[in-house]
Amino acid sequence: MTKTTGTNTARGVALRLEGVRRVFENSLAVIEGMDLAIDAGEFLAVLGPSGCGKSTLLRMIARLSAPDGGRIVTEPEHSQVAFVFQDAHLLPWRTVLANTVLPLELMGLGREERRTKARAVLDQVGLAEAEARYPAQLSGGMRMRVSLARALVTEPRLLLLDEPFAALDEITRFNLEVQLRDLWQRRGMTVIFVTHSISEAAFLANRAVVLARRGGKIRLDRHIGLPPERSNDLRSDPRLGQEMKLLMGAMEEE
Ligand SMILES: Nc1ncnc2c1ncn2[C@@H]1O[C@H](COP(=O)(O)OP(=O)(O)OP(=O)(O)O)[C@@H](O)[C@H]1O
Ligand SMILES: [Mg+2]
Repeated sequence: MTKTTGTNTARGVALRLEGVRRVFENSLAVIEGMDLAIDAGEFLAVLGPSGCGKSTLLRMIARLSAPDGGRIVTEPEHSQVAFVFQDAHLLPWRTVLANTVLPLELMGLGREERRTKARAVLDQVGLAEAEARYPAQLSGGMRMRVSLARALVTEPRLLLLDEPFAALDEITRFNLEVQLRDLWQRRGMTVIFVTHSISEAAFLANRAVVLARRGGKIRLDRHIGLPPERSNDLRSDPRLGQEMKLLMGAMEEE
């Protein structure tokens, strides 16, 4: 149960994975017979050891690669999906604003509409003042916020993030987590967030699944019982510690 409001729920995508299988050449199946249902508007964290298939799973959900078996059903069938990678992947010759408008350019929107939308989302991620700067003039955290803005500008109903904050210092990461959670609350899209970090998963998500080392088996599927408002104050809350302990227990199982 992760829904915040009725309106929000209407803006997210629901997903159903049925017997999903992915096998690369000359290897055992990375994911074998995975079943998972994700509600519209859910904030799901996917945890698991390195190499267990988290990115593989996310790429299939994004339709960047196809399952070798089973299927992934989304409701509604066609909707706006955005993907944020671990590296910001910005175009160095474009300013912050020009990077942010890029997906809208590709969608064929007019110049003024593009700029208005991009400025609104840059404002939301706290980058209004930096719109004329180039990527080389930004810190890592700022670059990641541009990447987030570029994903959000298309108003995705499904936002997929693959360890987006892994390379950032802890304070920057903490602040971006709060910002992302806040954006999710306001927009109500479905979020699937892949991470190595137990504290990040517990802090951000409403539900966390822990994958086993092999085969995409789900070790733990847990509703995170923390209040909907997540500020940095929560970081020292014993309830967060309790959630982390449970997730850690599942990560340690062999
Ligand atoms: N294109 C590919 N060709 C062959 N094997 C691949 C390919 N992509 C991934 N794999 C293999 O599939 C397994 C899962 O990889 P994946 O990148 O999904 O793991 P991950 O859980 O995201 O790991 P990490 O936490 O390190 O990012 C690994 O053993 C990897 O070597
Ligand atoms: Mg990965």
